[in-house]
Amino acid sequence: MSGWTREGYGGTGAGAITPDGCAVEVYARLPVGDEPDVVASAVPAGASLLELGCGTGRVTHPLLERGFTVTAVDESPEMLERVRGARTVCSPIETLELDERFDVVFLSSFLVHAGDVRVRDALLRTCRRHVADDGCVLIQREGEDWHDRVPRERRVGDALIRIASAEPTEEDPEVSSVRAEYVFPDGTWTQTFLSRRLSRERFERALADAGLVVDAYLTDDRTWVRALPTG
Ligand SMILES: C[S@@+](CC[C@H](N)C(=O)[O-])C[C@H]1O[C@@H](n2cnc3c(N)ncnc32)[C@H](O)[C@@H]1O
Repeated sequence: MSGWTREGYGGTGAGAITPDGCAVEVYARLPVGDEPDVVASAVPAGASLLELGCGTGRVTHPLLERGFTVTAVDESPEMLERVRGARTVCSPIETLELDERFDVVFLSSFLVHAGDVRVRDALLRTCRRHVADDGCVLIQREGEDWHDRVPRERRVGDALIRIASAEPTEEDPEVSSVRAEYVFPDGTWTQTFLSRRLSRERFERALADAGLVVDAYLTDDRTWVRALPTG
């Protein structure tokens, strides 16, 4: 086990659970989706890529197969043990200080919705610190109705992923405590995490505060964004 938990985050189920409540076993089992296609269509072939919050390498591995050089960062050593073929760095993203810049910095898995704005802003500053002057940052955002369209569920491989609830917290109604359930034929895992609503305007303001600006929304639902460093 990583041995600590972020406040407001947690998980249940067999095996190691990360500080933000993810189960290593779940991410080792889930098949990859369209993430590698979106990345590959948005950045130059063969680019050097810094992947923040890589987990078990579910997306890392297909990116390596496509010829990208990937440095994969996660704060969970148990997640990183599953990553093959990429340089790995075990660190919170907020405090990451690598002495190099990358063609592409990839902040995936909706981490930009961190409940704590200080964490969110630190994540974005890490992106800015590590992107080359002529490089770009790819960010994956939540869909606009995700806090309201609950419960909802979808099948992914042999798993049923259910977002069971998203309840505004007492401290800040803009932040929801979300409960996700991952039901596999032989076991169930849960994750509870905090997610801050982030309208397009607020998202773009947070980017600007970190020295980034939207270059393009890459998908019609605006969940994938390419941002560029400013100044
Ligand atoms: C939901 S999982 C997704 C993993 C991977 N991106 C994927 O799509 O399969 C989120 C991962 O990000 C890591 N993570 C979350 N917040 C982090 C932070 N602030 N610093 C470092 N790692 C973080 C977790 O440990 C976990 O492995």
